[in-house]
Amino acid sequence: MKIAVGSDHAAYSLKKFLLEHLRQKSGIEAVDMGVDTDAVSCDYPDIAFRVGEAVAGRHAEKGLLLCGTGVGMSIAANKIPGVYAAHCHDVETARFSRWHNNSNVLTMGARILSEELAREVLDVWLETDFEGDRHIRRLSKIQDYEHKICPSCTFSEKGKTVIFEHPLVQHKVSIIRDKNTSVKEFRELVQEIAGLMVYEMTRNLPLVKIEVETPLAKTEAYALEGKKLAIVPVLRAGLGMVDGILQLVPNAKVGHIGLYRDPETLLPVEYYCKLPGDISERDILVLDPMLATGGSAAAAISLVKARGGKKVSLVCIIAAPEGVSKVHAEHPDVDIYAAALDSHLNDHGYIVPGLGDAGDRLFGTK
Ligand code: PRP
Ligand code: URA
Repeated sequence: MKIAVGSDHAAYSLKKFLLEHLRQKSGIEAVDMGVDTDAVSCDYPDIAFRVGEAVAGRHAEKGLLLCGTGVGMSIAANKIPGVYAAHCHDVETARFSRWHNNSNVLTMGARILSEELAREVLDVWLETDFEGDRHIRRLSKIQDYEHKICPSCTFSEKGKTVIFEHPLVQHKVSIIRDKNTSVKEFRELVQEIAGLMVYEMTRNLPLVKIEVETPLAKTEAYALEGKKLAIVPVLRAGLGMVDGILQLVPNAKVGHIGLYRDPETLLPVEYYCKLPGDISERDILVLDPMLATGGSAAAAISLVKARGGKKVSLVCIIAAPEGVSKVHAEHPDVDIYAAALDSHLNDHGYIVPGLGDAGDRLFGTK
């Protein structure tokens, strides 16, 4: 289990103590998300959002947040939809916060608890499972409310759908929808949209501290920890997204899956599959600009999994509700990232309003 850990300056020493404790446990990977010193005062929301987003984005299963009292961290973290932060200063509250509330972040106060008690509270919190049962109904009411205030996100125990509402993305999507946009401009914009989406998706990639020497002095800096990434475009149209992503993550390996949708049955027909040999060790982004019935995406994800792929996300530009439902039903562990969620499919399985046939528009084949 991966647990994201953060503190402000007031709880820096407690964080170090608990990190050491966590790192002695087998099966737990504790990731330190700051702060790195108690010599400088910092603002607890910065750390709470960093850890909270890692948990809500499922880059970590759980989070631990520490500050002077634990209160500020819990207030800030609970602003993030998908975070259920429990502020606990005793073992019983921690136990019930897991049993009944399925809390995924624990907050504690370094000025309130001794190191030993904080360690005990943490252990009980980590060891206790959610009871389910009637509590599921209550938690879904919270999730329904989250969905109401954040309609672009759905939260579930498993896969989520995230729609990128960034103005730059929305602006570019409007241009590719336009039937008068040229092939050249369409191709360029698909690359740009894919790059912007992956820029946002990678905001929680783990960093390691390094030392660099500037022309003036040696300084501490950060570098990517080196998480392995693979991108897998679904031919043909997925190819249009590859370069935009490789510009940002040039070390990603690229697999290819050839699928086309039979125009009569709308079912996917596979004709090619070549994936990196170490696919099972990589975070995998399956790329296809259009998620219509979802048949092609679901089949592509199945192929990736059949060859050992474990952590798969789907990146598309325009999604239809039918495709989102199919992918979540067949692959509940897969997150879907899209730039737009459109209204419906027409009788020929085309997304409305959509943008037409993405492959034809990218390669000028119509
Ligand atoms: C398009 C698109 C997706 C698929 C989506 O590919 O690129 O792969 O349709 O439809 P679905 O969700 O209903 O399966 P197409 O079959 O047109 O092949 P192409 O990319 O080679 O043009
Ligand atoms: N494939 C496309 O390219 N466009 C759609 O609208 C549906 C499937």
